[in-house]
Amino acid sequence: MVSNGRKRKLVALDPTTKSSIAERFEAGLRARVIGQDRAVRAISSLYQVFQAGMTNSARPLGTMLFLGPTGSGKTHLVEAAAEILFGDRNAVVKIDCAEFQHSHEIAKLIGSPPGYLGHRETTPLLTQENLEKYRTERDPFTLVLFDEIEKASDSLWQLLLGVLDKATLTLGDNRKVDFSQAMIFMTSNLGAKEMSELITGSIGFAPARGGKMPDDDLDQKIYRTASEAARRKFSPEFMNRIDKVVVFRSLKHQQLCEILDLELTGIQRRVDESAGERFSFSLTNEAREFLLSEGIEYRYGARHLKRAIERFLVNPLASLSATGQVRLGDMVVVDITENAEKLDFYRDDSEAARSAAAMDAVQAMKASDERRIAA
Ligand SMILES: Nc1ncnc2c1ncn2[C@@H]1O[C@H](COP(=O)(O)OP(=O)(O)OP(=O)(O)O)[C@@H](O)[C@H]1O
Ligand SMILES: [Mg+2]
Repeated sequence: MVSNGRKRKLVALDPTTKSSIAERFEAGLRARVIGQDRAVRAISSLYQVFQAGMTNSARPLGTMLFLGPTGSGKTHLVEAAAEILFGDRNAVVKIDCAEFQHSHEIAKLIGSPPGYLGHRETTPLLTQENLEKYRTERDPFTLVLFDEIEKASDSLWQLLLGVLDKATLTLGDNRKVDFSQAMIFMTSNLGAKEMSELITGSIGFAPARGGKMPDDDLDQKIYRTASEAARRKFSPEFMNRIDKVVVFRSLKHQQLCEILDLELTGIQRRVDESAGERFSFSLTNEAREFLLSEGIEYRYGARHLKRAIERFLVNPLASLSATGQVRLGDMVVVDITENAEKLDFYRDDSEAARSAAAMDAVQAMKASDERRIAA
């Protein structure tokens, strides 16, 4: 035990301390992003370094490359971070590289030099003002996302290399934009086709074929496929500028079940916050199983599941609400139809259900009013 008068053990318990802010950030990410612990840890340790003021000011605060299967949460992770830090999933400066596949489109990002046609009409995306737009006193930095970088044109690459290296970007009119207070994330699903074949072969039809590949083996293979594809496509000078490369894992059955629950909670929250009728809904086990069987297509990750939820649950619920068939305080029970082809919706008129739903609606209204007042 250290009992020397000059050394004092440090324990961070106060909820306002910096370490607990970083811990809450990590817990928030974990609750929103399922099954991607390595990626969550990587981004939260970057945040911790920032909180501790230990970043290098000549470079961006951090640069990360996210690889891995489609629909596994690469873009979602950055948006979830924005939601936790800035209260809005869209508080990210997002560059969809697919939109900049031709060199002349770069003007949309950095503007064109004075005198060029259209110079005044273009309001470039990457200005200093845009970068500073979402910053707060506690988190005075920007999340920048270059999505699907493998689709970027050569001139976008040149621009990106400069930003990663010197944290500066020169706009068309010669103004400088400072990226030293930015965390830069890049996503790519290079090797997507191969990864999708690996997933389909190992877990896609596993129950019918039996003998499935252990999850860890599959993720090892995905890791190798993604890393090799990245090494083939991206130059060493680019790879050397990246602080961390994270390969996302393919989502398995258990994780997709958890994502279904997350989505259901999210839909109830959307109903509670909407301007329309606030009602509660609950699914029978059969209805949950139905959504999973319609929505699980492993090679598309959570994307397919989200589509099934929209189609079978959200759209019918919205139409019931729009046509006045469900009202404030109703409890809607969702079950499967007799031929199990879709979902059926019932109003539970029992006293217990009505009073529980009415309580929920009142709570939701209060919470939403409070949020509005706070905003
Ligand atoms: N790990 C996850 N945890 C929770 N939700 C997820 C996860 N992965 C995906 N989702 C859900 O699925 C949607 C699509 O995922 P996302 O856009 O992050 O895919 P992606 O990995 O970026 O794929 P792509 O390479 O095709 O762009 C997200 O908006 C989110 O709602
Ligand atoms: Mg994406």
